[in-house]
Amino acid sequence: MAEKTRERIAEMKANKPQPLHEPLIFLGAPGAGKGTQAREICSRLGIPHISTGDILRANATKQTPLGLLAKASMDRGELVSDEVINEMVRDRLSQPDCQNGFLLDGYPRTLAQAEALGALLQERGYGTPIVVNLRVGYNIVVKRLGGRRICPVCQRTYNVNFHPPLRDGVCDADGSPLQQRADDREEAIRERLLAYEAQTAPLIEFYKKGGRFFDIDGEQEPEQITGELARLLEVQ
Ligand code: AP5
Ligand code: MG
Repeated sequence: MAEKTRERIAEMKANKPQPLHEPLIFLGAPGAGKGTQAREICSRLGIPHISTGDILRANATKQTPLGLLAKASMDRGELVSDEVINEMVRDRLSQPDCQNGFLLDGYPRTLAQAEALGALLQERGYGTPIVVNLRVGYNIVVKRLGGRRICPVCQRTYNVNFHPPLRDGVCDADGSPLQQRADDREEAIRERLLAYEAQTAPLIEFYKKGGRFFDIDGEQEPEQITGELARLLEVQ
């Protein structure tokens, strides 16, 4: 084989995108525990936790154009448009910390988003994502969302009904006053559940067909759920 051809093959091999760690996707209704579990699993795996809700809220706090655009829909409990969200995720996944895997929490949330993500993952040479659905009944998520309190500094999440902080209204880790999310009001919770039922629940069937879909009982204690996830994903 001519030297030039050998060089060309070596060059092609070097440039070919290698399959990366499979991305993880956490599906589940509002309040299913996606964020709680994602934080734990990502810290064990050392991969970034990409929550589209967290990115939007951070933008809303900083009053960026994206944040200003998204805030009204979020506060009402409606979804932000697919175009805006897909562009935001494309941008986030371009960052170098995503090269060795990442976990998506709250994305995709519509069939159009799932299709856009599929195309993006293929374009970037990622393997087929592992999809985990946290299954929780609506009566439970309503209680969870109404009782949720968040530390604005370290983002630790508490629940006045299930997992209260040691001191009322104060973060155990850094002593900051805890806050309630604007969309954890009763009316917004109702809208979020309607949006979930109409637009996000169909993704369960979509990903079941993909073959790497796992359903987990999200009504267990958080530590039990983490244990199941750790066994499934083979993490310590
Ligand atoms: P987002 O921030 O993603 O909110 P969500 O999907 O409604 O989910 P939550 O964050 O409320 O719940 P979670 O499953 O993370 O539960 P958590 O672990 O906190 O999105 C917000 C908004 O942004 C959307 O409504 C939309 O407007 C917009 N948006 C975001 N992504 C979008 C997208 N892709 N497309 C379009 N728009 C988008 O737990 C909840 C509570 O329960 C906590 O208090 C926790 O302590 C407690 N808890 C957790 N696990 C347990 C357990 N096992 N037992 C008892 N209590 C528990
Ligand atoms: Mg969340």
